[in-house]
Amino acid sequence: MDMLVVQGGCTLRGDVYVDGAKNAALPIMAASILLAGDVRIKRVPDLVDVQTMSLLLQSLGAKVTRSEGSLDIDTRDVASQHADYELVRRMRASVCVLGPLIARFGRASVSLPGGCNIGHRPIDLHLKGLAALGADLRIERGYVIAEASQLRGADVFLGGPGGSTVTGTCNVMTAACLAKGRTIIRAAASEPEVADLGRFLNDAGARISGLGTSTVEITGVEGLTSVTHTVIPDRIEAATFAIAAAATRGEISIHDVRPGQMTSVIEALRAIGVAIHVTDDRIDISASGPLRSVELAALPFPGIPTDTQAQFMALLATVAGISVVTDRVFPDRFMHASELVRMGAAVRREGASVVIDGGGRLTGTSVMASDLRASAALVIAALAADGESQIRRIYHLDRGYARLEQKLNGLGADVFRRPDVATSTKRPHYLQEDSIGNKESEVHLD
Ligand code: EPU
Repeated sequence: MDMLVVQGGCTLRGDVYVDGAKNAALPIMAASILLAGDVRIKRVPDLVDVQTMSLLLQSLGAKVTRSEGSLDIDTRDVASQHADYELVRRMRASVCVLGPLIARFGRASVSLPGGCNIGHRPIDLHLKGLAALGADLRIERGYVIAEASQLRGADVFLGGPGGSTVTGTCNVMTAACLAKGRTIIRAAASEPEVADLGRFLNDAGARISGLGTSTVEITGVEGLTSVTHTVIPDRIEAATFAIAAAATRGEISIHDVRPGQMTSVIEALRAIGVAIHVTDDRIDISASGPLRSVELAALPFPGIPTDTQAQFMALLATVAGISVVTDRVFPDRFMHASELVRMGAAVRREGASVVIDGGGRLTGTSVMASDLRASAALVIAALAADGESQIRRIYHLDRGYARLEQKLNGLGADVFRRPDVATSTKRPHYLQEDSIGNKESEVHLD
């Protein structure tokens, strides 16, 4: 297992280019099952999660080939409808194959994903939506078993306690593409990644309207045809660089982005005192002036994404004054808080919020990444800290950020990867398991 070694105290400067969005690419890859044809997806980021989804599709019988940022997927020979626990437990987005499998084959057995480091993550809304379309669903030995002789359009409500569901909307929307008649999804997720999936499906012949709103209407069609699609830019990766620049009081330009999909992040940074200039596909960040503490809340789109909550917390630890960060989507997504405390941040949890008494000195140390965005937050804190930090369990980072060290080093950071001797060599048995008994290589992933 590798760790990242970060020399703190740098100021990020220069230009950085973002990749395609992980959370758009994954459901689009899964939806290719619907097509029984050729799919070319361009601007697919080179991530472990993308490799996992490729493996899952291959395990079902699809052919997946990667060349220069594009994926070619041929799903003609998909013969299995079984998504195995061994793959699903590595990545929750695997559940996105459920809707496409039911729609194309009338049956599926997909493992339930299991525990997760960012809090309780049920899939009841996915199941409710698919049941409304006529699928017969039951849970058996840890698997969702689905059968449907003919899906029929329905009026489906996908609102839950944390807002809508992103991958649940993807599942119901893809299944409804081949259902008989019209489906209306109310309280649909309006995240740009869901809309991108919808555009991919429409280009393949689906009839979906209302994309990017909370009411999505789908008229079922007989079948979909081969298609080429370019994935939207990763707004979370872009936000991570913007926040890192602010935390190091830097000045950077982020290229190949869609600023209109990041309004809440841009406004939050402006409220903190970061100067931001936006053009069609570029965001210029300058954090040379004084910064202010704020109160902010992660909400469903167009609110501040929960996937940037941890990074904002790291930034606010560097800003003098009391800040409050609340997560309304995943109210328990605060594993990074204790690691930030180890770096000197004054952070106190209160329910779904943390209170940060910012501006104190952060010092480099050895910290443990618990999930993808928590890892990004620790990298940001390490860049701003005095001295060296070692960020361990960075396999989480590799799931969602392509070439992160190279990109940061291109902005003047000093970050490198090296084997984590403490987790690579044979160690006494009491060090091989964590506090809840998970072997390090077997922890559930977000
Ligand atoms: N929820 C339910 N029932 C469900 C599904 C969700 O109550 O059946 C609740 C969740 O507990 C949560 C809220 O609804 O409170 C939102 O969860 P959602 O289903 O939208 O999350 P997801 O689809 O599993 C996607 C992203 C996550 C991102 C969330 C929220 C993908 C592959 N994953 O997850 O991304 O945090 O939406 O925006 O799109 C990440 O990239 O680091 C990541 C975790």
